[in-house]
Amino acid sequence: MEIHDTKIWTVDKIDGKIMNCPQIEEASLWIKKNEVVAFPTETVYGLGGNAFSNEAVERIFAAKGRPGDNPLIVHIADETQLNGLVSHVPEQAKKLMEAFWPGPLTLILPKGEHVASKVTAGLLSVGVRMPSHAIALALIQKSGLPIAAPSANLSGKPSPTTAGHVYSDLKGRIPGIIDGGPTGVGVESTVVDCTTDVITILRPGGVTKEELEAVVGNVQFDPALHDHKEAPKSPGMKYTHYAPNAPFVLVDSDPEFLQNLVDKDKACGKKVGILTTGERKDAYHADVIIPCGYRSDLKSVAHSLYDALRAFNETDVDIIYGEVFPKKGVGVAIMNRLEKSAGGKVIKEN
Ligand code: TXA
Ligand code: MG
Repeated sequence: MEIHDTKIWTVDKIDGKIMNCPQIEEASLWIKKNEVVAFPTETVYGLGGNAFSNEAVERIFAAKGRPGDNPLIVHIADETQLNGLVSHVPEQAKKLMEAFWPGPLTLILPKGEHVASKVTAGLLSVGVRMPSHAIALALIQKSGLPIAAPSANLSGKPSPTTAGHVYSDLKGRIPGIIDGGPTGVGVESTVVDCTTDVITILRPGGVTKEELEAVVGNVQFDPALHDHKEAPKSPGMKYTHYAPNAPFVLVDSDPEFLQNLVDKDKACGKKVGILTTGERKDAYHADVIIPCGYRSDLKSVAHSLYDALRAFNETDVDIIYGEVFPKKGVGVAIMNRLEKSAGGKVIKEN
């Protein structure tokens, strides 16, 4: 691990001139030198490096403390960059690109000859996406390279949705962060396997199953998402993830039942936190109550989910209880992340 002064490049005006702003120019010089920089995308912040260089990719893994068997997503700014990155593009993948790129959808495609071997962790496929964030696109274009980028958090922590989250995880470990303000979607891209006959969702995310089906017909979830005995096809899905420091427990109940759990813990002298939503935040009494969005608008929950999980780390709670959400639309991605944060611990009211 190299030690760096971590520079923050603030880019607060996102417009047509972004390509030529000095902050992006400086960040792109680091990318061209096979160094790594963090940058905003529409989903979460990424930690980027040259996807053609094993040296750059090794730096990404080292800065995050990421297990080497977990492959990275490659980010491109236009489809000509697919040359050398993938060996061919199946018909259904073409339709998905047309419908959802630029945007929060990662396609798993047969790997091309120029991809650095460490990007794919030895797999024959590669994950590719075209982000829709102006800063991400400008950085890729200015660097003239496809950029491999996992989420810019320390491995195991919730993904970062602000430059401040990145700084608190990676300061001293990377040369710089482009600060483009909070990200929009808030959960990571949907990862779909396009190497199979039926498109398979390996990781639920910003694009929903319903939206995919409107374009390519039948789409399936990887069985490992529901059945924990199956090995996931997306290596990253097997790791504990998104965990706040205090134990986190999901509660599938009405507010009264959850409040009873809190009261019992408080009677034992514990400090208790609740992860809730705007609608219910006044229904509880606890030491710390953090609302994330409104359950009537699941996109608002996705948007603030990781910020809320991280906010508990600024408190001294001994345990956190969290509400569950309907597994519909982006609720599938929200629940996938919450179940991982809770390490599978869910209490159900009979
Ligand atoms: O929204 C996002 O996807 C963000 C932003 C920065 O683009 N990136 C992100 O990357 O979430 P990361 O590395 O945190 O998650 C990538 C996921 C992991 O679960 C990984 O195992 C999976 O994608 N993945 C990457 N390449 C794969 C491949 N060839 N086959 C199967 N899964 C793959
Ligand atoms: Mg990640």
